[in-house]
Amino acid sequence: MSPVTSSQRKPRELNAVSHSKFRDDVLRGLAKSPKELPSQYLYDDRGSQLFDQICEQPEYYLTRTEFKIMRTHIADIASAIGPNVAMIEPGCGSGQKTRLLLHHLRQPYAYAPIEISRTHLLKFVQRLHSASPNLVVHPVCADFNELSELPEPLRAAPKRVVYFPGSTIGNMTPPEARALLARMASWCEPRDQILVGVDAPKNHDVLLAAYDDAAGVSAEFALNYLVRLNHELDATFDLGRFRYEAVYNETQSRIEMYVTSQVAQTVDVAGRPFCLSENERLRTEWSYKYDREQFRKLTASAGLREACCWQDPRGWFRLHLLAVSGGPERVP
Ligand code: AVJ
Repeated sequence: MSPVTSSQRKPRELNAVSHSKFRDDVLRGLAKSPKELPSQYLYDDRGSQLFDQICEQPEYYLTRTEFKIMRTHIADIASAIGPNVAMIEPGCGSGQKTRLLLHHLRQPYAYAPIEISRTHLLKFVQRLHSASPNLVVHPVCADFNELSELPEPLRAAPKRVVYFPGSTIGNMTPPEARALLARMASWCEPRDQILVGVDAPKNHDVLLAAYDDAAGVSAEFALNYLVRLNHELDATFDLGRFRYEAVYNETQSRIEMYVTSQVAQTVDVAGRPFCLSENERLRTEWSYKYDREQFRKLTASAGLREACCWQDPRGWFRLHLLAVSGGPERVP
């Protein structure tokens, strides 16, 4: 594994570099207008737990729909990928889906999770090893947004497939998503592929309910960001003075998530005061929704070509298998 990176958990576990990066990223986001809180920090221990709970809410169709597509088409998917591939997963453990795919691939060459938190990575690899003792696992401890080359054993594999499920790509802006897809392609050889899960635009009520469930888990997930800031950056957010909002921006084809100040107030974060006006929003996340044509254009601009696409009968979610070989495609 490459150099030690600490997990972004409690302050004690953060090394000096990641703690100051956390603080700088947050302060930079709060200095912007409109204010934003960088999404990657939603996932502390509590945040990860809450996200797992979101996935179980009846309104959150994404996880269930994607898993259903996988189960329905797994034979096709495995045969489109072919035998002897090294499966590379940026960020570890989408659990069930990963296991299903690994189980159906023919003679997988290796499985390589790429994960920034060494603690998470080691735990995940241990669990994987006891479940599938014969699978060759190559853990890569790195920030996949910055990884420019795969370790040698993976470059030596006969073929690679990069697996990026869960509509995680939707958390990025289209230019960021394009850059990440191009980076993944740069890890690959011409025969290699990328399998990515993408959420589709749909009825607004369905979308809004998925991001603002009746049980209030989505709200708690976003508000937990403020709890984390209070604990780790000596912030003074009074949770009773904030509410959660999810909005669908149709022009941009994205759900926007906010914690909103219910009154005019000043809040300290890492020793700095920030004035919030009544109803001022702090953005916690964007979640982009792509139709097939929009996504085809995005991938083409990253030099990728759609080899196969699977979706559920309602067309709510899709899995795209992208070929690296195509080279930049001409859009007429
Ligand atoms: C993890 C990015 C796929 O956008 O659906 C869900 C994150 N945030 N509810 C999504 C999320 C609030 C989720 N992704």
